[in-house]
Amino acid sequence: MLWRSSGTEAVLPDTTWPEDVVREFDDSVADHCLIPHPQLKAIDAAVRQARVTDFRSRVTAEQAPQVAQQAMSALGLRCDGLAEDLVRVVHGFLRQFGRDKIALRLEIVDRATCPKFHIDNVYVRLIKTYSGPGTEWIWASAPDEIQHAPTGAILMLKGHQHPRHSDAVRHRSPQLTAGERRLCLVLDF
Ligand SMILES: [Fe+2]
Repeated sequence: MLWRSSGTEAVLPDTTWPEDVVREFDDSVADHCLIPHPQLKAIDAAVRQARVTDFRSRVTAEQAPQVAQQAMSALGLRCDGLAEDLVRVVHGFLRQFGRDKIALRLEIVDRATCPKFHIDNVYVRLIKTYSGPGTEWIWASAPDEIQHAPTGAILMLKGHQHPRHSDAVRHRSPQLTAGERRLCLVLDF
């Protein structure tokens, strides 16, 4: 499949959604969960040629392949393995939280969209930065120590609506330098 290794370099590991890791996050008082994942090969070059814009849709499991294609064409993005990864992440998120439908946003930005540390007014939000610097976050108890989600990783954050949200972690989008871009997938409900 598309995220098998090509030659000696692994494009993406053929892993399934880590249900136990996400269940532990959901059941506990942890406010965030980070699932590292390598960056898709050739994604940075694809993002440089694409449009700075966003695509938003609500999506079911059945609609996921079509919505992934619509999102990529709205952004003018072409990259092997991206559509498959978008579908894999959407399906994992829907299944994990037992939802029929979630909100999806795929965006390319060239500046910080939410530059102040905050907590979202959702149940849970997933942010995957495919290209560019990852989301920044802090422990509320150590606001000067800024942490960075690695590019490619899935970051999950509980929002105000989650019953086990403990108000311990805040996040923001990173500042970008001139000419720098980020490609992010955001899923929530
Ligand atoms: Fe946010």
